[in-house]
Amino acid sequence: MFELIKQVGEARVGRVVTNRGEILTPVFMPVGTRATVRGVHQHELMRMNSQVILSNTYHLYLKPGMVVLKNAGGLHKFMGWEKPILTDSGGFQAFSLAGLREISEQGINFKSHIDGSKHMFTPENVIDFQRVIGSDIVMPLDECPAYSESKNYIEKSTERTIRWAERSRVRFENTSPLYEKEQFLFAITQGGVHKDLRESCSKLLIEMNFDGYAIGGLAVGESEEVLYETLDFASSCLPKEKPRYLMGVGTPSNILNAIERGVDMFDCVIPTREGRNGRVYTKGGTLSIRSARYANDFSRLDEEIESSASHFSKAYIRHLLTINEMLGLMLCSIHNVVFFLWLAGTAREKILDGSFKFWKEEFLATYDKN
Ligand code: GUN
Repeated sequence: MFELIKQVGEARVGRVVTNRGEILTPVFMPVGTRATVRGVHQHELMRMNSQVILSNTYHLYLKPGMVVLKNAGGLHKFMGWEKPILTDSGGFQAFSLAGLREISEQGINFKSHIDGSKHMFTPENVIDFQRVIGSDIVMPLDECPAYSESKNYIEKSTERTIRWAERSRVRFENTSPLYEKEQFLFAITQGGVHKDLRESCSKLLIEMNFDGYAIGGLAVGESEEVLYETLDFASSCLPKEKPRYLMGVGTPSNILNAIERGVDMFDCVIPTREGRNGRVYTKGGTLSIRSARYANDFSRLDEEIESSASHFSKAYIRHLLTINEMLGLMLCSIHNVVFFLWLAGTAREKILDGSFKFWKEEFLATYDKN
């Protein structure tokens, strides 16, 4: 499913082939946790040439639920999106909903953040849910431990995540897609910031032969320095001939630094979450577009980024935000997603023409100055 097209240093350009289309990497995957990339119409996602989007099994299980998704004929039909979808498993919610879950060998018992009802997620039923969802790339149940956990806890947790990966693989092999489109199963490597744990976890998961490998458990409270040092190592443990996905990371500079370390796939809520707060990403850094300084600024958000927001001025978009008009938040979200797609797409071009490292340094020098 993966072809490595070019490698310069550790940075790679590749192609992930699915039944719903090809994904050129490095790729940024806009996040549609609950079957919508918030504030961004599917037509916009097509127009900006988003190659793949991400959704989340835990959230989809709660709403709209598996019955509705099965009756709809899967998530693609339900949400009117024909290109590839990757679904995360719910393992991250072990971290983000820490007060609302119990973890045992069997799986994760969640107390719904919506109505308090209890739901058991196991490696097996999480595969079954993703068969119903029909995602092109399926993630197994894992545990994403917080940075603050002891090494002893992270070791036990990582060993359990490995046993869960094996159970996921068995269930995946004993079941079939429901909608005549091939599905692929990735593994998620854990181990916190501990090199010995990262190494043994990756080795055991590689022996199980998954279609791709994710690096999980990062950007959970550690410093940037520790993040990059761990990433250098975690990435070097993974096979060259499979796609590598860094889960949930991050800022533009995180993404470029991870591409330099050999990562192919990214997702992050930043563009839409911050867009909804009126925070806009540009080549010159981020802008808080609500600020009074933009009241009479009739320039575009970013002169070179083309999107349906580039039709309007900063002053107009600021006006929309100050009157609480939803179009304002939509335009900021759309612009930000386009910016993140541009970033990954430009990295791809620059790796191909051999100028990635130079371009990255030049880009970050301007971006970080502001
Ligand atoms: N998203 C960000 N980090 C993680 C992780 O460690 N596991 C999963 N399943 N999703 C994530």
